[in-house]
Amino acid sequence: MARETWGSRVGFVAASIGSAVGLGNIWMFPMRAGLYGGAAFLVPYLVLLFTVGVVGLTVEWTLGRSTKGGPIEAFAKALPGGKYLGILVNIIMIMIFAFYSLVLGWILRYFIATLTGELTKANPGAFFDALAFSKEALLWQFIVIAITVGIVAMGVQKGIERANKIMMPALFVLLIMLTIRSVTLPNAYEGLKFYLLPDWSKMMSGKTWMIALSQMFFSLSVLGTTMVVYGSYLKESDDIPLSAIATAFGDTAVAVTAGFLIFPAVFSFGVEPTAGPGLVFVTLPMVFQKMPGGIFFGMLFFLLLIFAGLSSTVSMLEVYVDSAITKLNMSRKNASVLLGLATFLVGAPSALSPSYFDWIANISTVYIGPLGALIAALALIRLGIEKAYEELRKGALIEVPEAWKPWVKYLYPIVIIVIYISQFVLG
Ligand code: PHE
Ligand code: NA
Repeated sequence: MARETWGSRVGFVAASIGSAVGLGNIWMFPMRAGLYGGAAFLVPYLVLLFTVGVVGLTVEWTLGRSTKGGPIEAFAKALPGGKYLGILVNIIMIMIFAFYSLVLGWILRYFIATLTGELTKANPGAFFDALAFSKEALLWQFIVIAITVGIVAMGVQKGIERANKIMMPALFVLLIMLTIRSVTLPNAYEGLKFYLLPDWSKMMSGKTWMIALSQMFFSLSVLGTTMVVYGSYLKESDDIPLSAIATAFGDTAVAVTAGFLIFPAVFSFGVEPTAGPGLVFVTLPMVFQKMPGGIFFGMLFFLLLIFAGLSSTVSMLEVYVDSAITKLNMSRKNASVLLGLATFLVGAPSALSPSYFDWIANISTVYIGPLGALIAALALIRLGIEKAYEELRKGALIEVPEAWKPWVKYLYPIVIIVIYISQFVLG
């Protein structure tokens, strides 16, 4: 059977931005920026985005399009033992979906609670404590996986592409509406100060750069998995460089804007901002309770997170569903259902045990995730940088500088290795 392709350029870019824009943008980025220097965090982030992030997208899409395969296929064609490295990153993808689906399950439950009115009355802290690690959370996690399976089972064009073409415009409208509401609240200025007041001293610390890099890779979905598979559905007439710029820009714009949504609202009502899950699941619900019409805005906010999250989870499941279709000759429907169930088995313990949740999230995102980006780069280099450069230029509307070649061959992998190692050294 011929490999599936994207139906249109717009569809491909929508799906890529959909994959990139996720909980990483709305939940993680603003908090990290607030902690690591405010506006000063944008300096390392933007520097790394242009030098490493955009390049990473071109690397993974070029690898996918030239090998016409996901990571197992692509790595096997290029590297000794590549097949096993491909299997490894598939496992990492399962682990990421496993914990991500739990968080998205909480979000689904909160969305329902804004509809039923429960969130108007409940104490948000108690509500979250009762839900977070419980049998009920397991049910919502299952629902998230089931919806994702439903979309992926419909295929690249009819499922993933179509869902993204609906969810992405809706997401942008919601984001803009909510941000305008937030920055026009009384005292919004206090929140903007917390978010943006630059602390330049933080910019000089290696830790800040390390956080910026791993945040950026995760945020762009550049882990040698999703973007390789998404690239494999590209046609030769499709443009890689401009799509990379659009995706990086869209992802970053949403992340930066999310801070403008969250902090003014929090400070306007004199609530203390908290790090981690508390920000979205405890602090913001408290804000929604105090704000006039707040539960309505809360409903829109959780809907925004649902769109952001689902467009990311489909891009996770698609990675190993594609592997099963091409390597195990399974039908798309069977692969989606079976692998959805497998993800639930791997993810279920995280709904019951906070320490398992932390373990699986850390292993997959911090310890092994960035290596996926490195393996993809090594695979592309091994296939020949000249060939890769020619592949990259096919269908490209803009001229990619020749410097792309030494950049990808030396600088890109070196930056990943240095920063990867420094995170263990710097603690
Ligand atoms: N980029 C997504 C986010 O920011 C997460 C993701 C990682 C999606 C890896 C696909 C693959 O939430
Ligand atoms: Na992101």
